[in-house]
Amino acid sequence: MQLQAGRRGATDRRCTMHGVPLLVRLLAVVQLMLICVSVRFAGASPPPGPVRCASGTANCTVTNANGAFPDRSTCRAAAVAYPASEQELIRVVGGAAASKTRMKVATRYGHSVPKLACPGDGDGAGLVISTNALSRVVAVDAGRMEITVESGVTLTELINAAAEAGLALPHSPYWLGLTVGGLLSTGAHGSSVWGKGGAVHEYVVGMRIVTPAPASEGYAKVRVLSAGDPELDAAKVSLGVLGVISQVTLALQPMFQRSVAFRKCDDGDLAERVAAFAGEHEFGDILWLPSQGKVVYRIDDRVPNKTSGDGAVYDLVVFQSTPTLAIEANRLQEEGLEATRNAAGKCLAASATITRLAAGNYGVTKHGLLPPLPGTPVVGYQNRIQSSGSCLTGPDGALLTACTWDPRVEHHSFFFQAGISVPLSKAAAFIHDVQQLRDLNDPTALCGVELYYGVLLRYVKASTAHLGKPEDSVEFDFTYYRSRDPAAPRLYEDVLEEIEQMALRKYGATPHWGKNRNVAFDGAIAKFPKAGEFLKVKDTYDPEGLFSSEWSDQVLGVAGAGGVRVERDGCALEGLCVCSEDAHCAPDKGYLCRWGRVYQEARVCRRVAGDL
Ligand SMILES: Cc1cc2nc3c(=O)[nH]c(=O)nc-3n(C[C@H](O)[C@H](O)[C@H](O)COP(=O)(O)OP(=O)(O)OC[C@H]3O[C@@H](n4cnc5c(N)ncnc54)[C@H](O)[C@@H]3O)c2cc1C
Ligand SMILES: *[C@@H]1O[C@H](CO)[C@@H](O)[C@H](O)[C@H]1NC(C)=O
Ligand SMILES: *[C@@H]1O[C@H](CO)[C@@H](O)[C@H](O)[C@H]1NC(C)=O
Repeated sequence: MQLQAGRRGATDRRCTMHGVPLLVRLLAVVQLMLICVSVRFAGASPPPGPVRCASGTANCTVTNANGAFPDRSTCRAAAVAYPASEQELIRVVGGAAASKTRMKVATRYGHSVPKLACPGDGDGAGLVISTNALSRVVAVDAGRMEITVESGVTLTELINAAAEAGLALPHSPYWLGLTVGGLLSTGAHGSSVWGKGGAVHEYVVGMRIVTPAPASEGYAKVRVLSAGDPELDAAKVSLGVLGVISQVTLALQPMFQRSVAFRKCDDGDLAERVAAFAGEHEFGDILWLPSQGKVVYRIDDRVPNKTSGDGAVYDLVVFQSTPTLAIEANRLQEEGLEATRNAAGKCLAASATITRLAAGNYGVTKHGLLPPLPGTPVVGYQNRIQSSGSCLTGPDGALLTACTWDPRVEHHSFFFQAGISVPLSKAAAFIHDVQQLRDLNDPTALCGVELYYGVLLRYVKASTAHLGKPEDSVEFDFTYYRSRDPAAPRLYEDVLEEIEQMALRKYGATPHWGKNRNVAFDGAIAKFPKAGEFLKVKDTYDPEGLFSSEWSDQVLGVAGAGGVRVERDGCALEGLCVCSEDAHCAPDKGYLCRWGRVYQEARVCRRVAGDL
């Protein structure tokens, strides 16, 4: 049935199987080999951690992997602790609770965009508890097909430990640079509405979490949660406000193979296809290239173990180590195009990016090197296909190659990452609206997102987790240019602002907790029917709110915390507010606050200087 759907599609005239000329594919292979060689000799430097301290473990600042929170504020903390066992963790939490010190967990790399890991209000009084040393695989139970890990274990370590026992985590985010505690806390996911769905928290069957406790209990205690325990539905996706997750037990499956093929089609019937496609392939996703009018369907299914494999490996180019010089050249080029308002130039650069992506078969190759013939499937084991992140590895050393967003590189890439889940039942209407908006605008208006890979559509299943998705949804990921200057408007920013507001307000979309700008969280908690239950568990576990911060209180709608919106001159440029007056945009640069074109209630910063 699914195979048939794939074959029927393959002969569809609107889809192409051989979009990439042979020469380009050969060049891509050569380029890949050169990169491999240069990485081997130069050594990619692993990303820096999010915590920096002025003296030892005291007087610290906390940031994220891109070195900037949405509001660009600096978060300070009094100290950082590195507990290496649950016993030490209990002592750390107990000590802080006894002195009513506010706490937050930080992880190895800190890949969340929002200001989630900042203790208290970031004024330097709080304590950071790093999970860097909580990095043991505790047990793999092959019989029960379960793995228990400490919360600081990275996704790479989790996948590898499971694979060594012949087991697989069936779904995961596509990016390896996350920790188990961090990715669960923000509800991170791959793409699927099959079975339990594509979010990692759906596979949690046990958790040990250290919370504050009364003095009579030594100020801290371990709460042990297991499958069926109603509190697990709060703890599985907790934004870090319940306490410190010490250990997690996940249900695994026998290792399996997947067959992955990419099929490029026109986007004319995307709206009609989007809901059905969710049912056709267990790991399907869709890469949308709106300005090209194309979509790339990921046809990705489990296949029997006996299927002969190609040693398929996922190594997405945007997560590969990139020579520092190339990172800087790219960034300077993009800044130049923005400064000269050269949208057509962006389209050219974007189409080169997409060609390169296609030439490398969107990251899935045979043995990590050879892209297959376009459109043909590659077969391999789950642990090599589910996620990628080769820019994470390598010895510390000179910064010759890095992840493109590494803040140590002077002109590193700097972007906004919107992750917004539209209910599956409304995805078709939303896509229609976006297409209409695209067609009303200059054809170059959306090239900017294609420079950063395109719009990725992934399926997320309705969850029992209180802060998980309330209904089956399609997550739309938009990544786009952010200026180093908070007062600088972006090319066609009105179009993306309208899309964002349309998703959130007209179609009731929910934000990814670990991505997005402030405006996406404004009023978001009201879309989670079980938020009240979550807050009850929070009040039981941490009645004094020691694990809560200014940001988490605002996001969770805690009484008296105020909103996530920040109103000041230029606030809409950074997504800190939706504009309601021209001053929220950049009137001196010709960007004024205007109504939406398709979603007419939208308020967006549009360049109207030319019209004046
Ligand atoms: C390049 C990139 C690619 C991404 N790809 C995907 C993707 O494919 N799918 C997806 O869904 N998301 C994706 N994300 C988002 C990412 O999954 C989330 O931001 C994730 O939460 C980051 O995990 P982390 O380990 O870095 O945690 P952090 O960002 O450091 O922490 C997140 C939150 O969890 C809390 N926390 C962490 N550990 C614990 C613990 N042990 N106990 C209690 N609280 C804890 C922290 O205090 C913080 O509040 C991506 C992000 C980036 C930058
Ligand atoms: C903390 O470090 C900053 C520099 O990062 C310094 O200016 C400040 O004096 C330090 N404070 C303390 C209490 O050590
Ligand atoms: C498939 O093969 C792997 C590795 O050879 C093995 O560990 C796993 O159990 C097999 N899965 C099934 C479903 O037989």
